[in-house]
Amino acid sequence: MSSASQPSGLPPVVDNIEQTRALIAGWKQAGDKIIFVPTMGNLHAGHLALVEAANALGGKTVVSIFVNPLQFGKNEDLETYPRTFDEDISALSKYKVDLVFAPGVDVIYPEGGKSASIVDVPRLSAILDGEYRPDFFKGVATVVNKLFNIIQPDTAMFGEKDFQQLLVIRQMVKDLSMPIEIRSVATVREANGLAMSSRNHYLDDEQRHQAAVLYDCLEQVVKLVGEGEHPNYEVGRASQVLQAKGFRVDYVVVRRQQDLAVPEADDESLIVLAAVWLGSVRLIDNIPFEL
Ligand code: PAF
Repeated sequence: MSSASQPSGLPPVVDNIEQTRALIAGWKQAGDKIIFVPTMGNLHAGHLALVEAANALGGKTVVSIFVNPLQFGKNEDLETYPRTFDEDISALSKYKVDLVFAPGVDVIYPEGGKSASIVDVPRLSAILDGEYRPDFFKGVATVVNKLFNIIQPDTAMFGEKDFQQLLVIRQMVKDLSMPIEIRSVATVREANGLAMSSRNHYLDDEQRHQAAVLYDCLEQVVKLVGEGEHPNYEVGRASQVLQAKGFRVDYVVVRRQQDLAVPEADDESLIVLAAVWLGSVRLIDNIPFEL
């Protein structure tokens, strides 16, 4: 798969660092900007919105497909995480994708799937999802750092669905003085409001229908907090509704958008975030809002 040429209409796929760097260096020399969309594959409309937004910026669009073992906990779904490479490449062929970087685990982690050096963004990684998935954001920050070093993009695109991840990456880029612009794209939802996610594949038809309650509850919090109700009261109520509808709730909180800290009375840019379980499937979602 190391070839950069593909049959007609399909984007070129490269699985090694040397060839990727050489192609990108050539584009940079020719004056092209590099716009990067990192993914773990199993592409859905949310990923494709990132690619579309990347295309709209001009320059060369580079997409990576890499299921990163470092961001999966011991009891998480690394083995069963959906891998749909051929479908992904075919979905990408509908866009202008100049390169798909699809390395194996041995390329990214030559020392047996591990990395001795870890990138940690401590405060942001320890709260909310970090409390439930202690190594997750270290795994994300480390692999995104590596991918940034390989691709050396001018701009990288991330979805707002993973809002905490987006802030971790922004903080990392700022703290480590990386010359990369981070752009975000709004969450793409199914018709019933369920946020697009690769893990939605694990839901059966009934659960998919039921999952829409999560977005309804978050919308209700936004509406009532906007009308002056206290956030703590509204997230408590949302949590009760979710439990009554069969969800197990990790958290439902209202936080400040800029740093996910508990809001002060005069904060106006807020976000409601939730993580819940439906059976064995963990769903996260959020809605940013202004008072
Ligand atoms: O959001 C994702 O798909 C992953 O966390 C990312 C950013 C590609 C890193 O593996």
